[in-house]
Parts: sequence; C-alpha cells; structure tokens
Amino acid sequence: MEIKINHLTHIYQPNTPFESLALSDVNAVIPSGAFVSIIGHTGSGKSTLVQHFNGLLKPTEGEIHVGDMIISSSTKNKDLKALRKKIGMVFQYPEHQLFEETVEKDICFGPLNFDVPLEEAKRRAREALELVHLPESILDRSPFELSGGQMRRVAIAGVLALEPEAIILDEPTAGLDPKGRRDILDLFTRLHKEKGMTTIMVTHNMDDAALLSDQVIVMDHGRCLMQDRPEIVFSEEKTLTSLGLDLPRAMRFLRKAGQKLGQQWEEPVFSTEKAAETIARSFVRKKGGDRS
Ligand SMILES: Nc1ncnc2c1ncn2[C@@H]1O[C@H](COP(=O)(O)OP(=O)(O)O)[C@@H](O)[C@H]1O
Ligand SMILES: [Mg+2]
Repeated sequence: MEIKINHLTHIYQPNTPFESLALSDVNAVIPSGAFVSIIGHTGSGKSTLVQHFNGLLKPTEGEIHVGDMIISSSTKNKDLKALRKKIGMVFQYPEHQLFEETVEKDICFGPLNFDVPLEEAKRRAREALELVHLPESILDRSPFELSGGQMRRVAIAGVLALEPEAIILDEPTAGLDPKGRRDILDLFTRLHKEKGMTTIMVTHNMDDAALLSDQVIVMDHGRCLMQDRPEIVFSEEKTLTSLGLDLPRAMRFLRKAGQKLGQQWEEPVFSTEKAAETIARSFVRKKGGDRS
C-alpha cells in the first residue's frame, strides 16, 4: 500500500496565540512494501508527519493518499478510524500505554475495539506473541511484571494483532539497552522481509537509517529536504552536517582513517565490514603496486 504526501501543511492550534507551523508543503512518497526511515533534528516535524499517515492528525492543507483513501482537512473522523486499522503505529515508549491486567487482554484490546470476535482476537494474540518471540505462557501474566524489553514487545504485539498493512515506528528503540535494541530492529527487519510490510521508521540513529532502509526522508524545520536511497542521502555530507546530522559511523571512521593514511574514500559505506574491506582493498592494491 503506497502512501503519498501531497503539499502537506500542518499548523497546531491555528488562529490562537499558540499557533505553530509544524509542517510546510511536504511532498514525499512511501512506496508499497518499502522500508523508509525519517531523519531530522528534534522539532523538525517527524512525529507530526507520521501521525498523519494513520489519521491521528488531519492536514491543515494538502492531502495524504493511503492506498485508495485520501485524507484532507475535510475527512470525517469515522473514516480516519478505518485508516488506524490499516496502518499500525508504535509510539516512542509504547509500553507506557499498556494498561490491562493480563498480557492477553492487552493484546486483544485493539482487535476487540475494531469489532474482531473474541476467539479471533485471542488467536491473533498468540500469533502476534510468536512474531515478537515471546512464549505463550506470558499471556496470563500482568504486563507490569515483565522486563522493559518484554513490555515493549507486548505493546508491539498489540499493534501487530490489528494485522496492519503498514507500520509506523516513532523511535522504536529509544531507551533500550543494546540487546533490546537489536531484538526490536531484528523483529521489524524480519516483518518487512517476510511479510512485505511497508515500514516507516523515525530514527536518530544514522546507522539504522543507512543499513535498514530502501529510502531515507530528511526533515528540517517542517520541510522535506530530501528523499532518496541511503547511498544518495548520505553522500550529501555538507547538507547533513549543516542540519546537525551525523554520517553513519562506518563513513565517519573511513573519513578519519583516510585523513591519517593520505587516502580519500568517498563512497558511502554503512557497515564496519564494508569499511574494513575498503581499507583492505586499497592496501592490497598498494602492495601489488610495490611489487611491479
Ligand atoms: N501538540 C502540539 N502542539 C503544538 N505544537 C506542537 C505539538 N506537537 C509538536 N509541536 C511542534 O511542532 C514542531 C514539530 O514537532 P514534532 O513533529 O514533534 O518534531 P520531531 O518529531 O521531529 O521532534 C515543533 O516545533 C513542536 O514544538
Ligand atoms: Mg518526534
């Protein structure tokens, strides 16, 4: 399901002294089945943008096309509800929204709210738990007895139980330790690969944006500055630096190593393996040169 953003402008609390322009004439496309990351400094409009995709916010001006639905300032709230079923939203710290007395009730809450019959909701709860790699034995437990990482996975299972066609992740790994971070990223990479789920991830982590995405959207002061493949976006070093954004770590390392070794490696390289290969290759070339 493609998501197309046409001339989207969003003003919070318009016509009041608190009026604030959060998005200004944003144009972008999320292709069906793609993994798209959204980067940009704090306050650049990332969260405001993604909350339009599942109808939590309505455009002040412009439109969002989601599959065959069009959302504009005049869209009725009941039509927005249908959208929330199609596009799942994992907020920052989603575990803060757990509230039921058991894990099972919590996961079933969303589906039941969308009139899914109880037995089907329970079936989906089991399936969603399997997707997030938690054992069924956890269903009867209180979500509040679980570890932070487990609570987050239960909250994510609740979103997956809606069987959405696309999923929005607003800084999904915030506050997790390295193992928890990897588990969550592996989960969404797997869902994207195996189920072809369109995935939209807001992130401050340039390595994740570079390594996981088909496309990267760069936001700045409520505008979409760039949308392209990571290789193209991260070759715009000057633009990114001027926005206060970093390059992926492997690229920063190559730049530094290049300065010390009197070499210039310009190509975008996102993993430590690729960075090591790039350096090794130029040494092999040099050695070969010495011999001749
Ligand atoms: N509920 C709100 N009411 C008024 N202004 C808001 C609200 N939420 C966000 N803003 C403002 O909109 C702008 C974009 O914010 P946000 O979308 O949260 O950015 P990001 O997610 O990139 O940090 C900021 O200037 C922010 O202060
Ligand atoms: Mg945000």
